Amino acid sequence: MQGVALVGGQGTRMQPLTFRTPKPLLPLAQRPLIWHTIERCKAAGIDHLVLSTGYMPELFERRLGSSCEGVRLTYVHESESLGTAGGVKNCEDYLGETFVVFNGDVLTSLDIGPMIEFHQERGAVATIFLTEVEDPSAYGVVPTSATGEVIDFIEKPEAGEAPTNFINGGVYVLERSVLDRIPTGIACSFEREVFPSLLQEGAPVMGYKSQCYWLDVGTPAKYLQAHEDLLSSKLHLQPPGTERDGGIFVIGDAYISSEAEVIGPVVLGEGAHIGASVSIKGPVSVGPRTRIEGPTEITRSVFLGDNVVGPGCRIEDAILGEASEIEGDCVIGELAVIGASVVIKKGNELRRGMRIWPDIVVEESAIRF
Ligand code: GDD
Ligand code: MG
Repeated sequence: MQGVALVGGQGTRMQPLTFRTPKPLLPLAQRPLIWHTIERCKAAGIDHLVLSTGYMPELFERRLGSSCEGVRLTYVHESESLGTAGGVKNCEDYLGETFVVFNGDVLTSLDIGPMIEFHQERGAVATIFLTEVEDPSAYGVVPTSATGEVIDFIEKPEAGEAPTNFINGGVYVLERSVLDRIPTGIACSFEREVFPSLLQEGAPVMGYKSQCYWLDVGTPAKYLQAHEDLLSSKLHLQPPGTERDGGIFVIGDAYISSEAEVIGPVVLGEGAHIGASVSIKGPVSVGPRTRIEGPTEITRSVFLGDNVVGPGCRIEDAILGEASEIEGDCVIGELAVIGASVVIKKGNELRRGMRIWPDIVVEESAIRF
């Protein structure tokens, strides 16, 4: 069976991280986010995944190649944004009678095999994975009947207007007949067009509820949450690398000074260097070749790789893009996001969701926010 992963979006809410890397390729504990979808495919016997690309397409092929975890990968590019349904239509040459569609930024432990069986037993044309969330207003809201038929599909309703907390989890099992109603080469949305029109015509659309782990990794806060959940085993997935004591996962030959304090869960990439008097309290992911000098305290943060952090820093709830550098004596926290190749000189304090665009140099003691 085939799968299609929708990976064409620009990941605007994740800027500046997505200026250089499309969201599905951002590392999650040092594997690309989309790796987790590929792993779900493999577990369900989906042996061919088509990636529907739009934004920075060449990076996908370069990073993932022609197969991953034994799943064959094919790339189909759209030069103009075709929307979620248009993006799948664009892949139709590779798809059989029944196939599975994934939003490329969803992290889930969903077991897809039983969902496909459910879909086939009910004779549905479309089955939507449903998950329950506290605030459904940022998602596609999907009320169902007692027997699981989808009654309505309301994409991003006004706050307080959602009829249920069950939302579209971004995984669909579809019959090929659904593709016939999607125009070729024109933008079209599953959420705003295809699902509502199927429902209007009374086509059998089912909702498949599962209590499994689910997260849409759409914002910096969710990106940190995803690290915390993965590293604390909520997905029942072992982080990469070799486990040293206390949930410290080390890839290759990372160095930890005997005078550093590292409390897991922490992942250290190849060539990471943790100097004396550095204190790291997980969940933290330290990307490859990152060098941290003490005394510096780090809590609940992600370093994408090739970062340099000097002494005298406090970094908490922050994300550092590739090759960005914090000279020393800085406070970076409260969901601050630093873009790639940024240099932050001494004496700066960046908090409250502050985002620094790539290549910027922040001069000494310039920002206190
Ligand atoms: N090929 C292609 N073309 N892919 C696209 C396009 C497009 O025009 N637009 C978006 N995508 C991809 C994105 O890269 C992402 O992986 C996925 O489709 C979903 O897009 P998001 O932009 O992340 O959508 P969302 O999170 O606001 O809402 C969607 O996901 C929710 C669950 O995570 C909707 O499907 C909601 O109904 C759903 O609840
Ligand atoms: Mg999303």
